[in-house]
Amino acid sequence: MERLIKFIRSIFDEPTEFIPLHDPRFIGNERKYLNHAIDTNFVSSVGKYVGKFETMCAEYTGAKYAVATMNGTSALHIALLMAGVKPTDEVITQSLTFVATANAISYTGASPVFIDVDKKTMGLSPTRMEEFLHANAIIKDDGFCYDKITNKRISACVPMHTFGHPVILKKFVELCNKYNITLIEDAAESIGSTYHGKQTGTFGKMGIFSFNGNKIITTGGGGMIVTDDETIAKRAKHITTQAKVPHKWEFVHDEIGYNYRLTNISAALGCAQMETLTEFIRIKRELAEKYKTFFADTDYTFFSEPENCCSNYWLNAILAKNREQRDELLAFTNSNGVMTRPIWKLMNQLPMFENCRCDNLENSKWFEERVVNIPSSAIIKDYYKR
Ligand SMILES: Cc1ncc(COP(=O)(O)O)c(C=O)c1O
Repeated sequence: MERLIKFIRSIFDEPTEFIPLHDPRFIGNERKYLNHAIDTNFVSSVGKYVGKFETMCAEYTGAKYAVATMNGTSALHIALLMAGVKPTDEVITQSLTFVATANAISYTGASPVFIDVDKKTMGLSPTRMEEFLHANAIIKDDGFCYDKITNKRISACVPMHTFGHPVILKKFVELCNKYNITLIEDAAESIGSTYHGKQTGTFGKMGIFSFNGNKIITTGGGGMIVTDDETIAKRAKHITTQAKVPHKWEFVHDEIGYNYRLTNISAALGCAQMETLTEFIRIKRELAEKYKTFFADTDYTFFSEPENCCSNYWLNAILAKNREQRDELLAFTNSNGVMTRPIWKLMNQLPMFENCRCDNLENSKWFEERVVNIPSSAIIKDYYKR
């Protein structure tokens, strides 16, 4: 373990003794754009950077439209509403995820159904989802898919690309088409990751990204919905801006809206960060290679990107042999100035979700006992000296 501490210290260009799990990095036009936003007095939700940031995200991912929100959780909430998710519905997702995925589903009033993850991707398993649907779902005369046990409509499915590693998207597209379920990708962690060369977030009816401070690029707090559907994009923008009907002076609002629009200050930061994303991914993939080589002759297994994918390696993960070994590693690294963390607790173990439907979650439990996230900032020593 001492060798690991030494190795981690040798790769990061951190000014302090403490090596964090993930630090943001501002090496481009951040200050210039922020000053411009302040100097022009456009600091709130109106201003040219919000639109520019949306265009940059759409162009980068290849989606036709992008709608900026104040964080990834609100982006997911709106995406679910745009998919027509109702309080009486069920939404399929994975139990091994960050709580925001399940929270956003709950904001709509719908009940999450927690299905197991895949051993190769750490994200939702299409095989397990198909088993669940085969055993529990029927398509009724209205054309929608219903859960035979609860009689609830299964209106959406939200796979999450864990730590930047894409799920088996082709299978989800097929399954969701077959059962008439809307596919929404929680790509909060995976901007820039591709599956068969196509960006994550662009396979579903909608995809969402997060630009929280711990993500590969950040706007402080921010999110984005991407879609190819013009009607959805227009409605998403409308509903995230208090559903205000454009008028020079009148306050006309035509439905219940949300104050979810990203601010121009955050978007200014986002535009500069988007300019550096490709380079950050290059650095992160190099870092992942270094870890892979290091862990090859240890007791731990480095978690590599799934087949046919190019991952942004947002957070690097290793697998311990069991819970005891995981806990020993967590204790040793954290008391030696190197931040590491276990993966999230399974959603169905949290009090607010303990009565939700789930399958046996065999792989999720397996990962929960073993995964340790290790420092992953895009700050490799001497990267620019080469
Ligand atoms: C998987 C996942 N979904 C959703 C979110 C929510 O994003 P935000 O923190 O921007 O609300 C996050 C990250 O924070 C996440 O990791």
